[in-house]
Amino acid sequence: TWTPDAFVESTVAELKATVGSEKVILGLSGGVDSTVAAVLLHKAIGDHLHCIFVNNGLLRKNEFSEVLDQYSGMGLNVKGVDASERFLSALKGVEDPELKRKAIGRVFIEVFDEEAHKVTDAKWLGQGTIYPDRIESVSASGGPSATIKSHHNVGGLPDYMKLKIVEPLKMLFKDEVRRVGASLDIPGERLGRHPFPGPGLGIRILGEVTADKVAILQEVDHIFIQGLRDWGLYDKVWQAGAMLLPVQSVGVMGDERTYEKCVALRAVESTDGMTADWVNLPYEFLQKTSNEIINKVPGVNRVVYDISSKPPATIEWE
Ligand code: XMP
Repeated sequence: TWTPDAFVESTVAELKATVGSEKVILGLSGGVDSTVAAVLLHKAIGDHLHCIFVNNGLLRKNEFSEVLDQYSGMGLNVKGVDASERFLSALKGVEDPELKRKAIGRVFIEVFDEEAHKVTDAKWLGQGTIYPDRIESVSASGGPSATIKSHHNVGGLPDYMKLKIVEPLKMLFKDEVRRVGASLDIPGERLGRHPFPGPGLGIRILGEVTADKVAILQEVDHIFIQGLRDWGLYDKVWQAGAMLLPVQSVGVMGDERTYEKCVALRAVESTDGMTADWVNLPYEFLQKTSNEIINKVPGVNRVVYDISSKPPATIEWE
């Protein structure tokens, strides 16, 4: 029978045999899969694993520095690359969701490739691909999720890198990845983290992305997610986040009329993201969270809660 400990043991032995003393480059995202893949590879080949963590400027509040610290704390050989400005300038004037994804994907590849070339004599590209990713990319020509939105987790790297691919998790399902992560002593908080899209807050800011809008949404998202944690709701939700809407609405503060931004909060239950139900969060929680957002985040005067299921709505708004 399959156990995480046995998987770790046999995979580490296999990695040692195939990779030997050659160098591996791996892009970390802060997510469960790339983290577990990195720790497994690190266990097998130590500092011959070179991890790259790119800040696309569209991460959650403090995520870049916190995750980087956590990775270093786990002993990983990781380089943080803050490319926020590059991503933001590529997004200037771009409003269409698919074009935003493409711009973000393209800049990521450029930045990653530049960093990869700095690791001399690398032979391998490590990836945190898991079994369902492969199924989805195989059905990409006809699968509904792939044709509706161009997810770029698979096959997104340029051919000319000519690196051999090593994917230690490719036979595993998500729950198995988490169990392997736990047996590798990866902190539970990281393993239980909600999924977060590669294009990050870029697809949660409807319309054009600007630094100001990112800053607003980071604050809103932080209040919402921290609230879910404080109320013990975080682990009951599959994914949660906030969307910054491209509308302004009238409000009132003191005896002043305001005309400011609106955010939508979204929390869903799901098993694989293919279908999802909105979560019936306690009214009291929504009430407190809404007040806190409006009081603490300048520029936002209205909060709504998304009560749409997938299908026909999607989880993200773009
Ligand atoms: P949707 O919005 O399609 O989302 O219902 C389903 C799941 O996929 C995530 N998602 C993405 N992940 N790149 C990613 O890496 C993307 O472009 C992307 N679009 C959506 C979404 O967060 C949800 O978990």
